[in-house]
Parts: sequence; C-alpha cells; structure tokens
Amino acid sequence: MAKDVIILGLESSCDDTAAAVVRLRNDQRGEILSSVVAGQSDLHADFGGVVPEIAARAHTEKLDGCVDAALTQAKLSLSDLDAIAVTAGPGLIGGVLSGVMCAKGLSAATGLPLIGVNHLAGHALTARLTDGLDYPYLTLLVSGGHCQFLIVRSASAFVRLGGTIDDAPGEAFDKTARLLGLPQPGGPSVEREAQSGDPARFALPRPLLDRDDCNMSFSGLKTAVLRARDGLVAQKQGLTRQDRADLCAGFQAAVSDVLGAKARIALARYLSEAPAAPSFAVAGGVAANQTIRAALETVSSDLGVRFAAPPLQLCTDNAAMIAYAGGLRFLTGDRDDLTLSARPRWPLDQSQPALLGSGRKGAKA
Ligand code: KG4
Ligand code: ZN
Repeated sequence: MAKDVIILGLESSCDDTAAAVVRLRNDQRGEILSSVVAGQSDLHADFGGVVPEIAARAHTEKLDGCVDAALTQAKLSLSDLDAIAVTAGPGLIGGVLSGVMCAKGLSAATGLPLIGVNHLAGHALTARLTDGLDYPYLTLLVSGGHCQFLIVRSASAFVRLGGTIDDAPGEAFDKTARLLGLPQPGGPSVEREAQSGDPARFALPRPLLDRDDCNMSFSGLKTAVLRARDGLVAQKQGLTRQDRADLCAGFQAAVSDVLGAKARIALARYLSEAPAAPSFAVAGGVAANQTIRAALETVSSDLGVRFAAPPLQLCTDNAAMIAYAGGLRFLTGDRDDLTLSARPRWPLDQSQPALLGSGRKGAKA
C-alpha cells in the first residue's frame, strides 16, 4: 500500500495569511496536523475594506512565521514534507503573488514539488476533508467575496450551476451593517440585531426568485434597506433600536429566502443526475448564520439529501483546505513547476460564461 503524503499549504489571496500541514491517505482521507491563520483586520480597520497593497505587504511579512508555526505545531520539519501547495488564484493579485513567491522559494530550496491550487477549489473540497463526502456532491460557497452553487465531480472537475450576478451575500451583510451603524464584520452584527426583530415589518425584495435558475442578486436588497432607513429617518429624524432590529431581521430573512429557494433549484438539478449518496455542503463565512443554515438544512432534508456544514474555522479562509486540495492533485501525479503564475481571476468551471459579479474582495470567478 502506498504511504501517506504530507503537504504544506499556503494561503494569502485576501486578508488572511495562513499555513497548514495536512496528511493524506491514499484513499483521499485527510487529517489536519496543523492550521495557522494570521488575520489582518486591524491593518485595514481604518479604511472600511481590504487595502490590496497593505494586504500584500503583510502577507510577505507574515508568511514565513506562519510556515514555521504550522511545522512546529505539526511537530514536523521541511524534510518530512512531500509537497508544497499554494493558492495561485483567484484573489487580490499582490497577496496571491506573495504566497506563490514564498512557495517557489521553499520548493527551490528543498526540491519539493510545487502545486498551485485554486482557492475556490479549496473551499469546495473542504467538506470532503471534514465530512468525507463522496463525489459528486453539491456545494454552496457563500462568503464576503463569493457566492456560487457547484457540483463537485472530482478534485479537478466542477460544474457551476449559478451564482451572484452582483454582490456576494457577506458583502451585502457588511454593507447593511454599515448603513445601520453596526460594527464590522456585518454578518454577526446583523444576525445579533435580527434576533429581536420582526422579519415581516418591511417588505424587502427577493430578487430573481421569478427565474427558474440558480443565479442570485443581492445589491438591490441592500439598496432597499437604504431606502427603508432613509424613509424612517425622514419620518422621525432617526432610527429606534426596534427599527434597526426589524430592518436586520427583514434583510436576513430575504437573503435566507433567496438562498433557500435557489438551493432547492440547484439540488433538483443535482439530483437529476441520480448521485449515489446525495450530499449538500456549505462553505464560507456566511454559513455561520443560523437562519441561513437552517433554511439550507430544511431544503436538504425535504429532498432527502445529507447536509454538511464544516466547522466555521474551515468554512472561512484557511490553508488546510489548500493543503488538502493540493494533496488530492499530488496523489494523481499532477505537479506545477517554477513557472507557476498567480491568477487574479480563475473560474472553477471554465465552460461557463463569467458571472457579472465581482464581490467585495475583487473579481473572483
Ligand atoms: O469566508 P469569509 O471569512 O471571508 C471571505 O469573504 O472570503 O467570510 C466573511 C464574510 C463577511 O462578509 C461576514 O460578514 C460574513 O462572512 N459572515 C456572516 C456571519 N459571520 C460572518 N454573515 C452572516 N451571518 C453571520 N453570522
Ligand atoms: Zn475564501
């Protein structure tokens, strides 16, 4: 029997610098030996968003330390590794370049094979790492920078069923929080306020629900929140706590209704292929939202599909998913070399036309 492989993964495509070590068995089961994430939110806090140049510089400064920490936590050294996997896109180009250059340096110095990984593939394959899902499974990537339904057929074959044509849901949560004077990141703040709100008080739109496809739109919803807020301010010179809670609850209910309804369409299309072990997994920070998670779980159980939600620290950006996705490529004999380039855009499903949306963190797919 072939021996296990041990992969170091690097991630630096947005505002988290991360390194991890993952062990893969020949049957593709993975074990996370270490996972280190150094965030940068303090560096960007004054700017209201991620500043690409600041992010790239911080990645360059933090990557070495993250690699050291990941190896130390795994109780391994570079000589124990079989390959180095790195996010080669999509993402902010300066950050992706920082990671790719660091991985190339390590590969050149050690002679270890280099493997470039698509960041979105890392997210899409996470549920296989954490929950051992069998191919093909359906996944919804839902975060501040992406929103798409994908059928995962293998580590290298993805079919995009649809996605957002403008904002990503996390981005809409963040903008809504800003409109209502709530702290960032907006998702958790809006969810907290929504607990004491009435989701039915404001009639907020559910865009594209009249269309029988899996595409979504969230920017009009955010504008509707803005209008409702301005209406209240004009009426009574300000918002009460209850107004704010009701707006948050209404917004969250609208996002959850859209994701639930589109998940139903995506699941029907996926199920028409008669998968042997039907499963649906979420990935991305918005998967932390209890109302949204419950809506997706309900749709899955209605249709007899297993629902998987990886632990939150593996839903958000991390390097364990990159090491695992790189390891899957390594097991098939696939390698890159020192000509590997960083790609700001890199759609997973190249057969589909590009979606119009770009997302808060830059054009993704
Ligand atoms: O996956 P992630 O950490 O980073 C990327 O965007 O790649 O996701 C962060 C996004 C933010 O927009 C944040 O507001 C959102 O996920 N988020 C949530 C919740 N927790 C985080 N959105 C809704 N409800 C939450 N509880
Ligand atoms: Zn991500």
